[in-house]
Amino acid sequence: MSKIAIMGAMPEEIAPLLEKVENVKKVDYANNSYYEATYRGKELVIAYSKIGKVFSTLTAATLIEKFGCSVLLFSGVAGAINPSLKIGDLIIAKKLCQHDLDISIFGHDFGYVPEGAKFVESDEKLREIAKDVASKNNLSVIEGTIATGDQFVASNERKEFISKNFQADALEMEGASVAVVCDALKVPFFILRAISDTANDDAGVDFDEFMVSSAKISANFILDMVESI
Ligand code: ADE
Repeated sequence: MSKIAIMGAMPEEIAPLLEKVENVKKVDYANNSYYEATYRGKELVIAYSKIGKVFSTLTAATLIEKFGCSVLLFSGVAGAINPSLKIGDLIIAKKLCQHDLDISIFGHDFGYVPEGAKFVESDEKLREIAKDVASKNNLSVIEGTIATGDQFVASNERKEFISKNFQADALEMEGASVAVVCDALKVPFFILRAISDTANDDAGVDFDEFMVSSAKISANFILDMVESI
């Protein structure tokens, strides 16, 4: 049976998962805590990485290489770029990119480095499972591009840069690094985010107000998917 990794970046993103799973066993490793658990007959390993691309890379690689997970689901919150996304709405990443990766001085596209790729695509079957879960629960989800960077974006100017150069629908700080790890290690992955803010001047205030409720919306959806994996 496949062991399913579920990760978030912050404690609030995995707390709703830990409340619902069973047989939880905490394992400390590499300056982090990993929670082995079961849910509806499935084996899970749950962890939050801490914020950003470096910590999320470490956690994703550890979930796969040390804990033997063969599928990875990410649950968390994001800032919206696409104006149709409102606070609390869900977005599934079809593909992900690094908006702060920049060697454009050498003539390369933003987000591209030699031997890498500007976009990494997530697993199609997992996206299909998500769409089934959404329709069964009468929830609307959009599928789009998520841009990742090591910065909390709270400016229309930066949003416009990311929109223009990556046609991204939402932005956050871990998805693309997790995608790079899973793609390299050939582990199917899925990234889900619920909107906590719109990455504008008010983003800090909105994030503080809505992060917990949006994190819960995303986590509950991910748990609904687990049964079908
Ligand atoms: N995650 C949620 N909102 C975000 C924002 N505005 N910038 C970066 N990551 C986020």
